Amino acid sequence: MTETPVLILTGASRGLGAATAFEAAQRGVRLVLNARDGTRLAQVAARCRGVGTAVHIVVGDIGRAATAARLVETALHHFGAIHSVIHNAGVLPPIAPVAQADAEAWEANWRTNLLGPVLLNAAALPHLRRTQGRIVHVSTGAAVRPVPTWGAYSTSKAGLNHLTRILAVEEPQVTTVAFRPGIVDTDMQALIREQGAGVMPPDEYARFVRYYEEGRLRPPEEIARLLLALALHARAEWSGEFIAFDDPRLQELVDLR
Ligand SMILES: NC(=O)c1ccc[n+]([C@@H]2O[C@H](COP(=O)([O-])OP(=O)(O)OC[C@H]3O[C@@H](n4cnc5c(N)ncnc54)[C@H](OP(=O)(O)O)[C@@H]3O)[C@@H](O)[C@H]2O)c1
Repeated sequence: MTETPVLILTGASRGLGAATAFEAAQRGVRLVLNARDGTRLAQVAARCRGVGTAVHIVVGDIGRAATAARLVETALHHFGAIHSVIHNAGVLPPIAPVAQADAEAWEANWRTNLLGPVLLNAAALPHLRRTQGRIVHVSTGAAVRPVPTWGAYSTSKAGLNHLTRILAVEEPQVTTVAFRPGIVDTDMQALIREQGAGVMPPDEYARFVRYYEEGRLRPPEEIARLLLALALHARAEWSGEFIAFDDPRLQELVDLR
């Protein structure tokens, strides 16, 4: 990649997304950032501009086609190209067994976690083909390990893993991977500890409290480096894969420019 890369990043207002935006800014990556909370997103953008990179924001719900269209238009208008898209926006709720499924709550989850990436990919793919660009879907271990009461989240992320495989065969000019970030110290983990009690099976709930109490949550900055490395440098032959944060192949990408 000779040109300064242009990255579209969703869910950039806090957590792993905010850390990834700042990591990218420090590397001079030009950014188009998205989230619903415009105040927090503007703060992240200001911090990124502080290290000298160009940043634009698109405030809106990623589950809406209009937000996807605005993200792509903003990148093309200001930067003229798109090299990478990171689909990081995600929500965990509803935390409830399938037997108590609420249609609106499941639909809201799938809209953010799965339909959102589909819509943004549809809008960005013509431009990613031109740059032989990269797509990273931020997934989770729960996409392959069934966690009782996380049905909406787990199925959305399992869908995202398969969307990754579909794109790998439909779009040979674009490299698409899914990423498992591990257990990261963000609001999402706090929500599990706050809302999981008495709903998640006690052993599952205790596992997540233990991660926290034993200081085993990973700092977002550490995982952001790996996520960004994939978005900028994932190898074409990895297209379709579900790649974990502790995959040794990631280390070789981290120091690439
Ligand atoms: N933390 C973990 O341990 C962990 C583990 C495995 C996977 N993950 C995945 O990592 C990604 C980031 O999670 P996180 O832990 O950083 O969570 P987080 O702290 O809750 O942040 C989620 C981000 O997504 C944005 N978002 C949520 N719904 C959105 C929507 N409809 N449209 C646009 N943006 C939206 C939020 O911003 P607004 O509220 O401002 O919209 C926020 O910036 C998620 O995909 C999550 O599934 C996290």
